[in-house]
Amino acid sequence: MKKNICFTTKVKKKVLPRSKILYLIKKYKTPMWIYNADIIIKQIKKLKKFDIIRFAQKSCSNIHILKLMKSYNIKVDAVSLGEIKRAFIAGFKSNNNDIVFTSDIIENKVLKVVIKNNIPVNAGSIDMLKKIGKISPKHPIWIRINPKFGDGHHIKTNTGGENSKHGIWNTDEALSVIKKYDLNLIGLHIHIGSGINEKNLYNICNSMKKYAIKINKKIKFISAGGGLNIPYRSRDKKINIDNYFKKWNETKKIISSILNCSIQLEIEPGRFLVGQSGILVAKVYSVKKMGQNIFVILNSGFNDLIRPILYGSYHKISVLHKNKKKIKNNTIIKSIIAGPLCESGDVFTLKKTGVIFHRKIPKVSPGDYIIIHDTGAYGSSMSSNYNSRPLIPEILYKKNKFKLIRRRQKIKEMLELETSV
Ligand code: LLP
Repeated sequence: MKKNICFTTKVKKKVLPRSKILYLIKKYKTPMWIYNADIIIKQIKKLKKFDIIRFAQKSCSNIHILKLMKSYNIKVDAVSLGEIKRAFIAGFKSNNNDIVFTSDIIENKVLKVVIKNNIPVNAGSIDMLKKIGKISPKHPIWIRINPKFGDGHHIKTNTGGENSKHGIWNTDEALSVIKKYDLNLIGLHIHIGSGINEKNLYNICNSMKKYAIKINKKIKFISAGGGLNIPYRSRDKKINIDNYFKKWNETKKIISSILNCSIQLEIEPGRFLVGQSGILVAKVYSVKKMGQNIFVILNSGFNDLIRPILYGSYHKISVLHKNKKKIKNNTIIKSIIAGPLCESGDVFTLKKTGVIFHRKIPKVSPGDYIIIHDTGAYGSSMSSNYNSRPLIPEILYKKNKFKLIRRRQKIKEMLELETSV
């Protein structure tokens, strides 16, 4: 049991100092998400050598985050009509390679919008190519290749190989459909999963080279996909971005010289750009002893942050005492941090197997606060209304100022979909 205990006392300073979080708690109440724009900007700068950075907005799709991305010349990926609309509202244009629609299916209402706006489509199935080709010959197309291997921090985030539904397996068939319908093939894309092992990041390069040579068409873009992990635990290694870029840039040059065309290199991260910028702030409502276990129960559960129950994901947890005097009292408790939902799995401290584990935290009592770190990616964007709890506010900290970028949903708004029919 002991080796699974993690120990965090202070709120990581790099996100926000204590006083600022307390100010926001007073103003917006808990639970809430806070993002620090400086961290996002720092991450963007690390990838600047790539010709194009395309933000996988599913990781954090708030329109104001998209606007921030746009102001740094980042492009955007969209995987649904909702995400296309978000991109438009944030100011991304349709005719500027700003948006690429990536999916394995294309529904009629999406098809209409991508055709009307000439949005390039990154096709993950032959059926999608046929559907577009039949009504929009010459449409700009990428092929999302399934390179027959995948990786990910969890089996559910592995997007390659035959156990994954993603991408096109048979590129010869894709090419013949592209030819038949006179589609305009502009790019090749490989994304093997999310939170992948560094060595597999490099393996994608070799695959890309192999497929580009086999396909042998003059293309404009290749995409390295996303998947770059972040250090959730202090012992986690950071990716060596310089080496990663070097390897991809060599790959681009080789493909470009073999195909005799100029190619732009894209990267498509979500987590890497926003993960470390976000925290979830919740309030302690109960500290319960259940036999040997101490449960610290918060007002935020997997309706807000689903990653622990879904993948057994680890997030650093720290304590913010309501009262400064208590900070001096450094009694440590081994606790299980849980949410308010009417479901036993509503626990933030779970192992990959789903079994609960303890964290050492400073003693807390009702009224204190818990900060769950590195929740900027796949935090808010994966939240739900489970147990009929409304969506919580999002706040962006930028240049020493705070901006409410999503207000708390009202229960009335949540119920309106049903009361208004
Ligand atoms: N490109 C494509 C085609 C993707 O499907 C994804 C993520 C990305 C890029 C961005 O991947 P990233 O750089 O963020 O790893 N909910 C899971 C992650 C699911 C990722 C889905 N696709 C989690 O919380 O870990």
